[in-house]
Amino acid sequence: MPFSERVKGMRPSSTLALVELASKLQQEGHKVISLAVGEPDFTTPSNVIEAAYRAMKDGETHYTPPLGIPELREKIAQKYREENKVNISAENVMVTPAKMAIFIAITSLVNPGDEVLIPDPGWVSYPEMVNFAQGKNVEYKLDEEKNFRIDLEDLQEKVSRKSKVLLINSPSNPTGGILTYEDLKVIRDIVVDNRLTLISDEIYEKIIYEGEHISPGVFEDLLPYTIIVNGFSKSHAMTGWRIGYLIAPSEFIPQLAKVQQHTISCAPSMAQYAALKALEEKESIKKMVTEFRRRRDFVYEELSKIDRIRVNKPKATFYVFPRYEFPIPSKELAERILKEKFVAVTPGSSFGKNGEMHFRISFATSMENLQEGIKRLREFFSSR
Ligand SMILES: Cc1ncc(COP(=O)(O)O)c(C=O)c1O
Repeated sequence: MPFSERVKGMRPSSTLALVELASKLQQEGHKVISLAVGEPDFTTPSNVIEAAYRAMKDGETHYTPPLGIPELREKIAQKYREENKVNISAENVMVTPAKMAIFIAITSLVNPGDEVLIPDPGWVSYPEMVNFAQGKNVEYKLDEEKNFRIDLEDLQEKVSRKSKVLLINSPSNPTGGILTYEDLKVIRDIVVDNRLTLISDEIYEKIIYEGEHISPGVFEDLLPYTIIVNGFSKSHAMTGWRIGYLIAPSEFIPQLAKVQQHTISCAPSMAQYAALKALEEKESIKKMVTEFRRRRDFVYEELSKIDRIRVNKPKATFYVFPRYEFPIPSKELAERILKEKFVAVTPGSSFGKNGEMHFRISFATSMENLQEGIKRLREFFSSR
């Protein structure tokens, strides 16, 4: 095979692999319930769709400036200033899909051998991107006993002379945990004292039930070290539009922009106009979060009744991350649940070593599916 070591070493996205197996079983005639999906089951708000349509009709079907259309960069900066109390301006903003933003940040910062501190359990793509940049993943622990907040002592211990980047994700996929102001103060000290760069993935910012989202950008002295990543996929049910952004110190932007210029050129033009409209949306987000909250409460209560499962109530996101108590690896567990009960869940080990003996359930699906899915899970666990 002609492929580079970097690509051969990359693991395919396990979350996507499971979705594929589930759809194969479905085609064979089984009624598969997928609790593995990482996107809202809602459609993009219709006025957002219309804004994109109008922009296309008006001829906005071309390349845009690589950093994004000026009015969107301005509006994103305004959102962060007003809602998040982060003191930035349009020149700090680059419009790009959120996943691309993380990829650009990691590949622009990491030299071979540099250490990147990533959460464990944490989102599946972080370690693969770090490997791609030939960096070294150093996992720090999220503490299940503290609702999956960062184990700050563990994090302190993991910092070394080779540490280059600290990556945080709050609210967190897969745990649904959020970082507090106190946590962020410690993180600030670690980043500033060690001159790290902080990447803060805030993509689940809006899907929050308890507590509040605080961006580390609120600390004036941390901002010069921070790259914030956010987007519209989860907050506005816009996964297919491939639209998000990063916020970085202005002197970082020309370096980061080079990677964008030589890869995707710019974010999709019509999606940028859709995003402009999305930033005005309040009501549809509220409705979606109200529905997610209803489902979260249901899923949490029902899972709590199942013997051999221990579950933390997620404060945010549309995921729960229960621990199970019998001795098979989570990959095997997920396969058995899928093959015996036709319910797709994501094995915890996909999210790192500390994710083992857990599985992730997404409640971004209908109440009807959740009721049926959990009934089947109850049968599965009670038959062991
Ligand atoms: C934690 C996290 N960060 C980033 C992303 C990427 O978002 P997008 O699809 O908008 O690129 C995802 C998507 O699943 C995610 O879960």
